[in-house]
Amino acid sequence: MRVTVNRKAHFNAAHRLFCRDWDDTKNKEIFGKCSNPNFHGHNYELIVGVTGEIDPQTGFVIDMKVLKDLIYSEVETEFDHKNLNVEVPEFKDLNPTAENIAVVIWNKLRIKLSKDLDLSVTLYETPRNFVTYTGK
Ligand code: NI
Repeated sequence: MRVTVNRKAHFNAAHRLFCRDWDDTKNKEIFGKCSNPNFHGHNYELIVGVTGEIDPQTGFVIDMKVLKDLIYSEVETEFDHKNLNVEVPEFKDLNPTAENIAVVIWNKLRIKLSKDLDLSVTLYETPRNFVTYTGK
């Protein structure tokens, strides 16, 4: 019996989406407002799902406090109120799209969790646009 435990978190961050090989016109065409050369912010909402067996003693799949602290140390302190392109090393050469941010978050959390647990990361860039990565 595998159960998924979900924890929501939030961070504000600035980014710019662009391809170095393209001029501003082409970048604007592909990335729209997100290619603004002066950056802009999003209110990112994050849902981290951890799936595993229920421990018969505790009744937990994972201690929510442990998950909360993990998201805080690995994601919130690293990304909140940061310029992702400039201040977060993972995005030095990687476009900080919702897709890539979700993969980066997944990789950071994955190495901190027991192998018995499955992990999913859902990231909302806007209330209507969100992506999910499960490591596949
Ligand atoms: Ni944007």
